[in-house]
Amino acid sequence: MLAVTGEGGMASVQLEQVRKTYPNGFVAVHDATFEVADGELLVLVGPSGCGKSTLLRMIAGLETISSGRLRIGDRVVNDVAPKDRDIAMVFQNYALYPHMTVGENLGFGLKLRGLARADIASRVDDAARTLELGALLDRKPAVLSGGQRQRVALGRALVRQPQVFLLDEPLSNLDAKLRLSMRVEIARLHRQLKATMVYVTHDQIEAMTLGQRIVVLKDGVIQQVDTPMALYRHPANLFVATFLGSPAMNVLRGRLHRSDGLRLDLGDRTSIPLPATDIPDAWLGQEIAMGIRPEALHVAGSHEPSFAPEVEVVEPIGSDVFANLRFGSQGLVARFSPETLPAVGDVLPLSIEAGALHFFDPESGVRRPLSA
Ligand SMILES: Nc1ncnc2c1ncn2[C@@H]1O[C@H](COP(=O)(O)OP(=O)(O)O)[C@@H](O)[C@H]1O
Ligand SMILES: [Mg+2]
Repeated sequence: MLAVTGEGGMASVQLEQVRKTYPNGFVAVHDATFEVADGELLVLVGPSGCGKSTLLRMIAGLETISSGRLRIGDRVVNDVAPKDRDIAMVFQNYALYPHMTVGENLGFGLKLRGLARADIASRVDDAARTLELGALLDRKPAVLSGGQRQRVALGRALVRQPQVFLLDEPLSNLDAKLRLSMRVEIARLHRQLKATMVYVTHDQIEAMTLGQRIVVLKDGVIQQVDTPMALYRHPANLFVATFLGSPAMNVLRGRLHRSDGLRLDLGDRTSIPLPATDIPDAWLGQEIAMGIRPEALHVAGSHEPSFAPEVEVVEPIGSDVFANLRFGSQGLVARFSPETLPAVGDVLPLSIEAGALHFFDPESGVRRPLSA
């Protein structure tokens, strides 16, 4: 049987040492190497200004590639014009044509490309059905809600039937509730189309919930590429550790020592008992950065080794309670189930869950694996 590719067929995207140096000499993307598999939804996440849009625009062909190689499918496309790359991009600031109806907005790009009227009509119909825009086809953008407009913007990408969808913070202009429902819609759309998608966001929750894999970017440098849970469980460095997860991972700096079990000396005559952990002896007495997720802190039973921080702020969010704690000079956040509702000023005996410790080099921030 023949494999059918061509228009509408999906493709992988491969970046090999892709770099962007802007004319002023600023390197916005340093030698990015990763692959988006055929049909994968890959999320590019990082703080504002880290180079996400630059990277996406290079894939789209809207920005030249200074060095390195970009492939879409098995074709090197560094020098291929955007319109010949068979991609469609959705932006945060999607501009719909105000004088055109939704239907005309959806079909306009295809009309420019010279598609036959019947083809346009059938593609617009398909997209309208997929995005539930059918009832809106005759309306003008001015009367649509923000969410409906963003769906039209998605629809304009959909009718192109591209090999690759590129989405640059498409939900950032929507309010929190709408963002949530559109996020689910995009996940559903991806499942339905089985399309290759690169989705850019600065929002770590969006990244974790949408991405099959995530590329974490900081200052134009890729920090780690992996599945959401692998990033959460084994962050490669302190940046990834504290960027993903809300509230963020607690990071305590101190020296490890053993007396009555393993402890972390925080330096201000305070120390924290740690669960039994098989650390290399060479780490003892050494400066280290230790990470503990908020959910790995528990109210200690009476016979457990514990430390006792003071509760400074309590944030009940219904399903969970976040407690902001102080232990000596150290601030900490714990996440409890709602049955544990501490009061401000309480001194809470806490223990740390076994197997929950993360260790990092105190200077470089690079993860120190427990077993070599
Ligand atoms: N044309 C340009 N010339 C010089 N620097 C630029 C240009 N465009 C963007 N930058 C810089 O490149 C960095 C990355 O920008 P961008 O890719 O837009 O980041 P993000 O999308 O992650 O917020 C930023 O520091 C930005 O100021
Ligand atoms: Mg951007």
